[in-house]
This record gives sequence, structure tokens and C-alpha cells, in this order.
Amino acid sequence: MLVQWILLICSAALISSKGLPERIVGGQSVSILSVPWQASLQMYGDHHCGAVIYSEKIVLTAAHCTERKPPYMFSVRVGSSNSGFGGQVVKVSQILEHEAFGKTFAESNDIAVIQLQRNLIMGFGVRSIPLADSSPQPRSLAFVSGWGSIESYGKGSTTLLGTTVAIVDRDSCMSSYRGGISKDMICASAPGKDSCGGDSGGPLVSDGKLVGIVSFGRGCAHSEYPGVYANVAELKPWIVKTIQRL
Ligand code: ARG
Repeated sequence: MLVQWILLICSAALISSKGLPERIVGGQSVSILSVPWQASLQMYGDHHCGAVIYSEKIVLTAAHCTERKPPYMFSVRVGSSNSGFGGQVVKVSQILEHEAFGKTFAESNDIAVIQLQRNLIMGFGVRSIPLADSSPQPRSLAFVSGWGSIESYGKGSTTLLGTTVAIVDRDSCMSSYRGGISKDMICASAPGKDSCGGDSGGPLVSDGKLVGIVSFGRGCAHSEYPGVYANVAELKPWIVKTIQRL
């Protein structure tokens, strides 16, 4: 009896210690060829956040990734499944963050447009993705990918990971986050699967369209707290208008 109790406690401890790994949770490794719009936003040459290829000259990321920092700190790596080498690295020339970032809630309008110093060479592993025009329905499946770090602000996990999650309806996400979800956010989750620290700024894709940008979450793959993403369909008018200003 005592032995059984000890065994039970040990296995519970083991399971809970695995509870919140700081990287794409419950994912598998994916090739850049299957998510060619994925980019790594690098700060002083290290993976810092995810980003998404919008066009040859423009990538999108989360505003909390650039945080009013100057463009010269950043570059973007595309076309590689590894965040540390390969593909093309291009320096950032201009960053425009959403003017209302952090206004309603800490992570409201968590989006930024980045202009690159030279054009990306499009091809295998380097492609743009169209923006969604309407928010995906609850329960639709979406794929999130990234090089999420193993510790919150540490170096990136070097291989690209991805996982499938389902869109969560606004009301239930609202109640999870006690009302802290605005229209410019969209939530997604799946048991044991989530984006996590270091995946921010990266793509959430459904039906061939960019529907979200990794923004925040309470823990990772927490059963009560879905992952929260910038809602691309809602933010599309801002994105289009802002790109014209560049
Ligand atoms: N804020 C994190 C980052 O900067 C992303 C967290 C996403 N969390 C989640 N549970 N989906 O990388």
C-alpha cells in the first residue's frame, strides 16, 4: 500500500513537471517547405520572435516583439527550418507598430508591420501568405508554428515546430480571461497543444489564410487558458493602410 502511494505521488510529480514546457507544446517538427511564410525575427542575430512573410519587402510580427525598439537591432531569417543558420537573412529598415497597441488591454492590437532593407528572394521555403478577410468560425482547425524558446527569454529551440489547434469561441475565451479579450484578438487551443514563449509574432493559419499572429497566453497548453492571437481579419484594414504609409 505504501509503495503504491509513493509510486502514485512520484508519477504525479513527473506529469506536473512536464506541464508547462516553454515552447510550441505538443507539436511535431515541421519543414519550412510546409510553412514557407514563417520567418524568424532576430534581435542582434538571435531568434527573438516569429514573423510572417506578407510580401517580398514586408513581414508582420507582434508589436510586443518590437516594443518601440529601433530597426537596426533587427533582422529577419526566412527559408530555413533552423532559426540559427541557412536561408536568407535580411536587415529591417522600418517598423510600424499599431498605434493602439496595449491601449484597451496589455496586448490589444498586438501587431507590427516590418519593412526590409532589400527584397526577399521568393521560392521554395520562402512564400507570402494572404490575410484572412473574415475571422474563422469556432472549432475550425488552424496550424501554428515557431521556434519557441525553452526558457522565456532564452535562445530559440533551433528546429521549427508546429501543431494544430482549434479556434475557440469568443465568449468562452472571454470567460477564461475574465473579459480581457478584445475584438482584435482570437483564441485557439487543443488539449496538450499550444504556442508558447518565443513563438510570438508567428503565424496561425487556417484554410490557407493567415488568421492570427501569436500574442499571449496564461502558461502554455493550460486546459483553462487558450492561446491568444492577434485577429488578422479584424486588423486587416490597419495592416493595408499602414503598408501604404511605408
Ligand atoms: N508572449 C509569448 C511570446 O512572446 C507567446 C505566448 C503564447 N502563449 C500561449 N499560451 N499561446 O513569445
